[in-house]
Amino acid sequence: MTDDVRVRLEDVSYTYEEAKKPALSHVDAVVHPGEFLAVLGHNGSGKSTLAKLLNALYIPTEGTVLVCGYDTRKEELVWEIRRRAGMIFQNPDNQIVATVVKEDVAFGLENLGVPTEEMIPRVESSLAAVRMNKYADSAPHMLSGGQKQRVAIAGILAMEPAIIIADEATAMLDPSGRAEVLDTIRRLNREKGITVVWITHFMEEAAQADRVIIVSEGELIASGAPDEIFDRVDFMRENHLDVPPMADLASWLREQGVPLKKGILTVDDMVKEVERVLCPSKSDT
Ligand SMILES: Nc1ncnc2c1ncn2[C@@H]1O[C@H](COP(=O)(O)OP(=O)(O)OP(=O)(O)O)[C@@H](O)[C@H]1O
Ligand SMILES: [Mg+2]
Repeated sequence: MTDDVRVRLEDVSYTYEEAKKPALSHVDAVVHPGEFLAVLGHNGSGKSTLAKLLNALYIPTEGTVLVCGYDTRKEELVWEIRRRAGMIFQNPDNQIVATVVKEDVAFGLENLGVPTEEMIPRVESSLAAVRMNKYADSAPHMLSGGQKQRVAIAGILAMEPAIIIADEATAMLDPSGRAEVLDTIRRLNREKGITVVWITHFMEEAAQADRVIIVSEGELIASGAPDEIFDRVDFMRENHLDVPPMADLASWLREQGVPLKKGILTVDDMVKEVERVLCPSKSDT
């Protein structure tokens, strides 16, 4: 087992049965330990296919996917891989399997054959880590969408994963649910060092990642820090992707001759930069 990367894709292609062209073609990529990686791409570009290749739900048609050094092609390693690379999906309701929150969180551990005395503290600490411990005895259907997603995250955490892969985990949530789920994941990334692969359509979520990759028509076409990626406004548009509103405004202002520096993603960045340009003496102090 190599530990230099969490995930390595080597010349990976995936073609669905009876599909005319591959959903992913010749993708080379790595995900580093502790990294928060956002994956962007237009509808149908291959993001979900990529996600499913990362925890052996799909096996590449060509090439190799290594998760924590384990080759997903080896059937006997599937459970080793799945407990290291947990996945959260879009619809919170589809992920709940039990009628009580703590039982839902324990479900994956039961499958792994973890003994009961070990299971109880793991469930408790996982629920605490997503700040859902006071709902341990609640019925999942009484929870909000954001809370259900946090329970799904706790179920993954209980398995002590190295990686969490989230395929549009906030897409069905209202803004407050979205914020609570993203904040939870970011905290787990920061505090527990869990590697995150965060597939999203929300540019403001991708702006918070360490790195962004872009998938277009099954190919990986860009990789870089969010400020680098979002400064390429024309490139993003060509690939039918938005940029965060402040990156867009900054690009327009630059075209109008305002000498704004690169890497403006948030309102805060914009305020600071406009202040620097308009009142240089003030921002020097
Ligand atoms: N089960 C399937 N059988 C055949 N083709 C599929 C299947 N699932 C996806 N595809 C096709 O594979 C390509 C990539 O799909 P994928 O779901 O990975 O894209 P995506 O980037 O996740 O899209 P979205 O943003 O809509 O979630 C698309 O052309 C899609 O139509
Ligand atoms: Mg998808």
